[in-house]
Amino acid sequence: METRVSEIADGIYRLSTYVPDIAPPAGFTFNQFVVLGDEPLMFHTGLRKMFSLNRDALSRIIPPERLRWIAFGHFEADECGAMNEWLAAAPQATAAHGRVGCMVSLNDFADRTPRELSDGDVIELGRGKRVRFIDTPHTPHGWDAGVLYEESTGTLMCGDLFTQLGNDRDLTEGDVVGPAIAAEDIFKYSCLNPRMGMTVRALAKLAPRTLALMHGPSFSGDGAAALRALADDYDRRLSEALADAAGAAP
Ligand SMILES: [Fe+2]
Ligand SMILES: [Fe+2]
Repeated sequence: METRVSEIADGIYRLSTYVPDIAPPAGFTFNQFVVLGDEPLMFHTGLRKMFSLNRDALSRIIPPERLRWIAFGHFEADECGAMNEWLAAAPQATAAHGRVGCMVSLNDFADRTPRELSDGDVIELGRGKRVRFIDTPHTPHGWDAGVLYEESTGTLMCGDLFTQLGNDRDLTEGDVVGPAIAAEDIFKYSCLNPRMGMTVRALAKLAPRTLALMHGPSFSGDGAAALRALADDYDRRLSEALADAAGAAP
């Protein structure tokens, strides 16, 4: 396996590892994002077993020990499995996650005390970069789920939202909603819940210019329209699931 590095927005880099054995023949990507600044931040740690791949990829951009912030969308192996490896590699780094995630997992699991982020909290990274944490509980999954929005570039690091197969592009202006709907049909990874459409539509109000997908290409274009279309699809799925459940009730 190799890890590709590309700049998807000014000062924001995507480290992408393609695994052809997952959902063949299309395969599947695991992507980390690095936001440069006086205090560089990585969003997603990557799997613990991919740590050396990602460390080597990061070292093509900055010395890994310069990392200051380690953040991710929710507590799961691909999102944060290598957190303690990064904390060891970058002695100045702090893990940052939402209050629920810190309370439930990180206060125990992280080798150094994490920074707890409330909904809307901003981390100033310097050189004009600032990232805002937005709570998205149970969306697409995980009680502790959240996303990060880099305000100067309008980049939404949206974690597992829009998850899709394949590895044909680093950055696309094409459709990311249709492939996400197809992947949801295959994996059924989202935790359908009544607030889901509302949660995703609230992200659309940010009007992001770039969507940084954890599993799939990054998207450049009308992020609000893509998020609204994804919200509509979640609403449709929820209605169908409720109708199914009502029909199956004794
Ligand atoms: Fe996940
Ligand atoms: Fe993921």
